[in-house]
Amino acid sequence: MGASWRVHLQLLVLLLVAFWWDGFCEENAAVFIVTMKQPPAVHQNRGLERLNFKDSRISKGDSNVLNVRNKPRNNTKPLSYKSYLIRLQNSVLRRTLRGEHYIKLYSYHYLINGFAVLITPQQAEKLSRRKEITNITPDFSVRTATTHTPEFLGLPQGAWVRDGGPQSAGEGVVIGLIDTGIDPAHPSFADGFSTNRFSVPNHFSGICEVTRDFPSGSCNRKLVGARHFAASAITRGIFNASQDHASPIDCDGHGTHTASIAAGNNGVSVIVGGHHFGNASGMAPHAHIAVYKALYKSFGGFAADVVAAIDQAAEDSVDIISLSITPNRRPPGIATFFNPIDMALLSAVQAGIFVVQAAGNTGPAPKSMSSFSPWIFTVGASSHDRSYSNSLVLGNGVTIPGVGLAPGTTGDDMYTLVAATHALKNDTKANDMYVGECQDPTSLDPYYIKGNLLVCSYSIRFVLGLSSVKQALETAKNVSAVGVVFYLDPFVIGFQLNPTPMYIPGLIIPSSDDSKVFLSYYNSSLVRDDSSTRIVQFGAVARIIGGLKPNFSNIAPKVMYYSARGPDPEDASFANADILKPNVIAPGNSIWGAWSSLGLDSAEFLGESFAMVSGTSMAAPHVAGLAALIIQKYPDFTPSAIGSALSTTASVYDKQGNPIYAQHTYTNPDATQSPATPFDMGNGFVNATAALDPGLIFDSSYDDFFSFLCGINGSGPVVLNYTGSNCGPSTLNASDLNLPSLTIAVLNQTRVVTRTLKNVATDESYVVGFSSPYGVSLSVSPDQFFIGNGQKQSITFVFNATLNSSSASFGKVGFYGDKGHMVIIPVSVISKIMY
Ligand SMILES: *[C@@H]1O[C@H](CO)[C@@H](O)[C@H](O)[C@H]1NC(C)=O
Ligand SMILES: *[C@@H]1O[C@H](CO)[C@@H](O)[C@H](O)[C@H]1NC(C)=O
Ligand SMILES: *[C@@H]1O[C@H](CO)[C@@H](O)[C@H](O)[C@H]1NC(C)=O
Ligand SMILES: *[C@@H]1O[C@H](CO)[C@@H](O)[C@H](O)[C@H]1NC(C)=O
Ligand SMILES: *[C@@H]1O[C@H](CO)[C@@H](O)[C@H](O)[C@H]1NC(C)=O
Ligand SMILES: *[C@@H]1O[C@H](CO)[C@@H](O)[C@H](O)[C@H]1NC(C)=O
Ligand SMILES: *[C@@H]1O[C@H](CO)[C@@H](O)[C@H](O)[C@H]1NC(C)=O
Ligand SMILES: *[C@@H]1O[C@H](CO)[C@@H](O)[C@H](O)[C@H]1NC(C)=O
Ligand SMILES: *[C@@H]1O[C@H](CO)[C@@H](O)[C@H](O)[C@H]1NC(C)=O
Ligand SMILES: *[C@@H]1O[C@H](CO)[C@@H](O)[C@H](O)[C@H]1NC(C)=O
Ligand SMILES: *[C@@H]1O[C@H](CO)[C@@H](O)[C@H](O)[C@H]1NC(C)=O
Ligand SMILES: *[C@@H]1O[C@H](CO)[C@@H](O)[C@H](O)[C@H]1NC(C)=O
Repeated sequence: MGASWRVHLQLLVLLLVAFWWDGFCEENAAVFIVTMKQPPAVHQNRGLERLNFKDSRISKGDSNVLNVRNKPRNNTKPLSYKSYLIRLQNSVLRRTLRGEHYIKLYSYHYLINGFAVLITPQQAEKLSRRKEITNITPDFSVRTATTHTPEFLGLPQGAWVRDGGPQSAGEGVVIGLIDTGIDPAHPSFADGFSTNRFSVPNHFSGICEVTRDFPSGSCNRKLVGARHFAASAITRGIFNASQDHASPIDCDGHGTHTASIAAGNNGVSVIVGGHHFGNASGMAPHAHIAVYKALYKSFGGFAADVVAAIDQAAEDSVDIISLSITPNRRPPGIATFFNPIDMALLSAVQAGIFVVQAAGNTGPAPKSMSSFSPWIFTVGASSHDRSYSNSLVLGNGVTIPGVGLAPGTTGDDMYTLVAATHALKNDTKANDMYVGECQDPTSLDPYYIKGNLLVCSYSIRFVLGLSSVKQALETAKNVSAVGVVFYLDPFVIGFQLNPTPMYIPGLIIPSSDDSKVFLSYYNSSLVRDDSSTRIVQFGAVARIIGGLKPNFSNIAPKVMYYSARGPDPEDASFANADILKPNVIAPGNSIWGAWSSLGLDSAEFLGESFAMVSGTSMAAPHVAGLAALIIQKYPDFTPSAIGSALSTTASVYDKQGNPIYAQHTYTNPDATQSPATPFDMGNGFVNATAALDPGLIFDSSYDDFFSFLCGINGSGPVVLNYTGSNCGPSTLNASDLNLPSLTIAVLNQTRVVTRTLKNVATDESYVVGFSSPYGVSLSVSPDQFFIGNGQKQSITFVFNATLNSSSASFGKVGFYGDKGHMVIIPVSVISKIMY
């Protein structure tokens, strides 16, 4: 979500944790995530998976299933191993903490063998001395980081046509969302909506919890799984059952929104504030949704709950995991990659699950990235080409742009502007602090306002949800104003104002500079009584040009200022990893999506069935949906191959063919924008149509990622602690991972790296073109090659530094096939040392 999400969580988490420390805990108990030596089920069953492979392709159930992924789908075997692991876990706890008080919250067994437990630091110390225990990490907190985007991404004419239209786009694929839950009654998740009935994904083994507010029958053939995970939050004493609901129901709005972006039904009418804004569709409208609620409106979430959700999703055999959440701090330790969430996701990748994560709303500074690991597909947020721009025409001829999904005033008539603070009843004191926010009609005198435009102050209290646009509109109606103009309170800076639905003429001035221009015109037009300084006449007039119709501009996409940036931080110090982050950008700004009927996160969309919100949270599920289309077409693709297809076909140009720009500041972001680099946008803006026909693929396996982790200086013990395996002699530098990008943080004289390409299309001849980063000479060999279907080709790149420099520079390498495939990878080199 936008900045409002961040503000909420930080404030509330601080307040509530403080409360917990005095109230609840008598012995400093805290939640720890503990991992054990024996391999988890997913590692244990690597041999079994191959055996099960053939069986699982045979679709015994519904014959409508077009694709059964050829991955291990029958978890019957791991079950006995699962109970074996749980017995081991319980036994080590019992033997180590005999007679003491502790609470085991979760058993993890599928992706990691371990558990979450509420214990004191002394107990943690005791446990850490056991030889069966390999790692103990304190639990940590995390936060959550469309009617038109399918058209903007070219889906109706492109990818959907290739996949058989929206009626079958994503067929058979299950997308697991780790989020705030879902509103199961929303038409975006109904299974009878499309004429093409939903099949039963018979590789999926998840269940739907049944609770009072998530009754039996909530799930269907589209929404196939729904559970919630809150044990860590509950033991901390900050879970409020009446607000957070111990059930998969979404009382926030965020989870319903992200699920509909990934896989909401096609053709659901978006009606908000009484206005119709077109029809909505998810990226893969015929994919299935499985919801794992681990985030809550009032406090965010905790890693122990998130890991439990990921473990369950993998055990249930989802095909894709989408996380619109990031850690609140950079993980400590020798490398950012070694944290319980990323390590659980590595196991998920090993199980064949494609993992998408929001980059974080921590931009725009360099190294602000909140998603770290090379096995995770990280998505930044861009604008898209639709805006609902309205404007205010002042009596002095100045026009001020606004945000607000609102109608305009009628015709060319001009209306008198009256500030709430100047329209008080005689008995109201002008120093009532919040009277300017128009929240209370009883203090206002309709005599001044009737038939005029009411002027209200949009303060930080709106951002925090203490005041609302809806209430101000009620006030305006009560005092018979024709409309409302909100100017930005000088204390609100750097806040992303989302368009807000209004049912009467209205406008919010989103810029503080424009707000000053507006106020100065308003003030200078007041006529005051010379002696009493009472206002005798309101001289300022204006009209509002409405913003209900979308305005399609060509300056899109653009990297939003809040989207987190590379370089990818390797550790908590200043070291950079040889890994490109983000991987791509996707639409994340002002995105229409389904909204929960209980959704409390946005006061402006309370009670609406759709909401327009912004953030990298909205960008990640776009890519999760596109990945479902790729899986539908290429069921054999590994997670790395899916990421490669999305990366090498991404575009670095906007709709007009100019470079994509990136915003670089919170305030006046458009004034400081410059062409985006790979650290702003990764490989570029996703192109779904091209990603369905990538030509060449850069693939990596679990073993490659394992060797990469072992290549980090001093990582041996941590790798053993997390994976249960010892590092062998084979290690891999990050720059040698077979990623669809070339990233070198420190080029000390010279470096040779290789990549291996695999042809997933028909036979083709390629020529290689490249541009070197400034200060680097690059050679690529071979510079042309023929490659048959299914064949591999290795490419060697030699980098030489040609000057000393510590600033990043960028280039690219393109493989151009004679059948039209274009496979483009970015080249980034930060410091160069020549000698
Ligand atoms: C899983 O495999 C077992 C035998 O290994 C079989 O009895 C069971 O029916 C299978 N379950 C599914 C859902 O295919
Ligand atoms: C690995 O686990 C052992 C045993 O619990 C512990 O002593 C050691 O500190 C851990 N190493 C790291 C790097 O976390
Ligand atoms: C729990 O939430 C309800 C409803 O929002 C609220 O009235 C109550 O004060 C909250 N309780 C606590 C302890 O915060
Ligand atoms: C929107 O959906 C409705 C049915 O839900 C349909 O009648 C209408 O034609 C659709 N409009 C567009 C523009 O697709
Ligand atoms: C408020 O006071 C002014 C002057 O003191 C008077 O003219 C006006 O009628 C009063 N308004 C009301 C609603 O009492
Ligand atoms: C305005 O609100 C008051 C109570 O807050 C109510 O008595 C009055 O009838 C309302 N007036 C209109 C025009 O809605
Ligand atoms: C409004 O204008 C008056 C003079 O017309 C000036 O003294 C006052 O400072 C102005 N106030 C603001 C807030 O601009
Ligand atoms: C559409 O948006 C562009 C760019 O924001 C703006 O220049 C133009 O005036 C807008 N058009 C309308 C009709 O609002
Ligand atoms: C997306 O890819 C398709 C097919 O390669 C191409 O025709 C289209 O121009 C691309 N779109 C953009 C915006 O690059
Ligand atoms: C690895 O780390 C150790 C201790 O921090 C250091 O002494 C050593 O030089 C490092 N090795 C490399 C190859 O960087
Ligand atoms: C660069 O390499 C040279 C020789 O290989 C070494 O002496 C020097 O310390 C390296 N510089 C850095 C910054 O790593
Ligand atoms: C890079 O440097 C090596 C040795 O320093 C040299 O042999 C090679 O030709 C150089 N390559 C390029 C592309 O400059």
